[in-house]
Amino acid sequence: MQHFTDRNGELYAEDIPLAAVAARFGTPTYVYSRAAFTQHYLSYSEALGSHPGMICYAIKANSNLGILNLLAKLGAGFDIVSLGELERVLRAGGNPEKIVFSGVGKTPEEMARALDVGIFCFNVESEAELEILAQVAAEKGKVANISLRVNPDVDANTHPYISTGLKENKFGIDIKRAPAVYARAAQLPSLSVQGVDCHIGSQLTQLTPFLDALDRVLALIDELAANGIAIHHLDLGGGLGVTYRNETPPEVADYMAALKAKLGDRKLSLMFEPGRSISANAGVLLTKVLYLKPTEHKNFAIIDAAMNDNIRPSLYQAWQDIRPVKPRTEQAKKWDLVGPICETGDFLGKDRELAIEPGDLLSMMSTGAYGFSMSSNYNTRGRAAEVIVDGDQMHLVRARETIDDMLRGEAVIPE
Ligand code: LLP
Repeated sequence: MQHFTDRNGELYAEDIPLAAVAARFGTPTYVYSRAAFTQHYLSYSEALGSHPGMICYAIKANSNLGILNLLAKLGAGFDIVSLGELERVLRAGGNPEKIVFSGVGKTPEEMARALDVGIFCFNVESEAELEILAQVAAEKGKVANISLRVNPDVDANTHPYISTGLKENKFGIDIKRAPAVYARAAQLPSLSVQGVDCHIGSQLTQLTPFLDALDRVLALIDELAANGIAIHHLDLGGGLGVTYRNETPPEVADYMAALKAKLGDRKLSLMFEPGRSISANAGVLLTKVLYLKPTEHKNFAIIDAAMNDNIRPSLYQAWQDIRPVKPRTEQAKKWDLVGPICETGDFLGKDRELAIEPGDLLSMMSTGAYGFSMSSNYNTRGRAAEVIVDGDQMHLVRARETIDDMLRGEAVIPE
């Protein structure tokens, strides 16, 4: 998190004190660093270098229009999983020809819109989906570029909820079945086979699972070539982990060098769908201590951010650092940082050593990925504001949700 630093005893985002963001926009607020997003994206595009391919940011990690626009300006492609995400990319100025469409449940309507705007490729996740896509494209007189997302059955060694490449997971097509499905796809005139896709999980901190998956996918590509089906691109999905605490994930450059070394003389362009590794350490969640409630058993600090703002601790037992914006010199005590929501699972951190008082600002670090994008209105709490810091400037890129925003569309029934 090198763009969020301590200066003169207080926490900054780039050249802006976080306290100034809170003073202007209130709390809870997600604060993103433009420089961090840029640096993380460039680490991919530079590591890819002159090798043909594309970096398609997985927008589910953080889909704010302001962020997508920054990445589009850097030349990024995008990995989407819904019509909503497609429209976000288009409104943010993303190039449709750099979009890949993943997801196990694409509807015919979503397929039609993606075909109309001319996306780069559909990552098809089942045989049933393949048939529907072929029909939708045929009805439009179009040809859909496809790759099959194969499930290579490798263990990503990550949290079970974010592991996707095991045969018991719902994702992709069993790699053993893939040759038959490719043969079927090759017969359908409204489909054009372009690539192979595989995404085995998220927050991977070792190279081995990626390389094991790659070995299996390359063997498939060779088999397909022998059957007369040429594959042009290899999409390795996302999944590279980040440091939340003391994890030591591989560097992007080392990851890519290891992959390129395995390609041999196969002429394959390389696609990636990174989400977390671009956004997690580019954002923080700014929150305020409301009340301190020391009890005989535990010290609770009730803060104004809750599980509806960041569900990762409750859902995955995720640990994300929580730091005072202006550290105090008093003796620290252990606190459970809990939100105002009526659930025991509503905590953002447990047993954190902190010296805090009501009114203090805290910064939950590494929350740029799967933070706001997984937030909800549970307990009818408006979602947080989002701000991008760019040097010494701050820009509100999503206003805090109001009561009217939340109730829009609801009605009472007539008597
Ligand atoms: N491509 C596909 C097809 C995916 O399903 C995902 C993430 C990505 C790319 C991006 O993966 P990343 O580079 O971010 O690891 N909410 C969870 C993470 C869920 C990941 C879902 N798929 C969390 O907060 O840990």
